[in-house]
Amino acid sequence: MHDPTLIAGRTALVTGASTGIGAEFARQLAARGAHLILVARSLDKLDALAADLRAKHQLDVFTMQLDLSTPNASARLFQRVSDLGRSVDFLVNNAGFSSLGPTAELDPDQVPGIVNLNVEVIMENTVRALPPMIARGGGVIINIAGTGAFQPGPYMAARTASAAFILSFTQAVHAENTDRGVRVFALCPGPTATPMTSGQTSPLGKMRTPDQVVATALKALGNRKASVVDGRLNNLVARIGSRLPEPLVLAMATRIMKRTTAAH
Ligand SMILES: NC(=O)c1ccc[n+]([C@@H]2O[C@H](COP(=O)([O-])OP(=O)(O)OC[C@H]3O[C@@H](n4cnc5c(N)ncnc54)[C@H](OP(=O)(O)O)[C@@H]3O)[C@@H](O)[C@H]2O)c1
Repeated sequence: MHDPTLIAGRTALVTGASTGIGAEFARQLAARGAHLILVARSLDKLDALAADLRAKHQLDVFTMQLDLSTPNASARLFQRVSDLGRSVDFLVNNAGFSSLGPTAELDPDQVPGIVNLNVEVIMENTVRALPPMIARGGGVIINIAGTGAFQPGPYMAARTASAAFILSFTQAVHAENTDRGVRVFALCPGPTATPMTSGQTSPLGKMRTPDQVVATALKALGNRKASVVDGRLNNLVARIGSRLPEPLVLAMATRIMKRTTAAH
């Protein structure tokens, strides 16, 4: 059974690696000696990051331009990984979409793509990566949910609902695999300063940074938790939010999100 904290020499696949938390996963995993497969739509950004990491760490870094919101994206992704002759030891399902504003104003034609990216691809990548990891006696799967998973988020309903799905799915997969050598957990960042939150403020004060979020995730490799919330304050809010009465949670969340949406 592999030790999940031993990263050097393993191959890590990071989706949404062109910016923000995903790019920081790439940097911190490379600093620990992982070979990388980086996926996003912006190939120029991926290639620039890859060149930097290869020069700094002398690792194999592959880049793949892929729109994960399109049908069969996970199948195409794993086919390309197999064409490289690589197996995925460490999977970070990080790519995600978030929109701010009333659900009534969402473009209905965008909905299937949101569900593909935020839900289906994460689930399908997990299902594709798991059997070979189990067969090899180890591996790591980190699925990015968010503190929105712990309570509904008016004005970002699609994002928080998908985070809740990913949290629940990942907790269950974690439980199925605790004795099979594969470390599976959901990472739940709160408001974090990335291009996704550009121009927004955090209702909790200062935003967390991608390097803090990734450090939290890598530290959690050594424990046995099914979900990990980044930051002490985010932990507190997530725990309290899931225990308060529904009308109170909804009223508070609506007020906070209306302010955030207006500021945006
Ligand atoms: N920042 C926060 O406050 C926060 C809080 C909770 C959870 N999260 C979650 O953390 C994850 C990372 O977010 P972030 O804050 O780092 O945002 P970000 O900087 O906007 O990064 C999102 C990444 O996903 C990629 N991506 C988006 N759509 C894609 C698509 N259709 N196909 C392939 N790649 C796609 C983007 O690359 P391209 O545009 O190049 O494709 C980018 O690399 C997301 O799942 C997000 O929901 C973030």
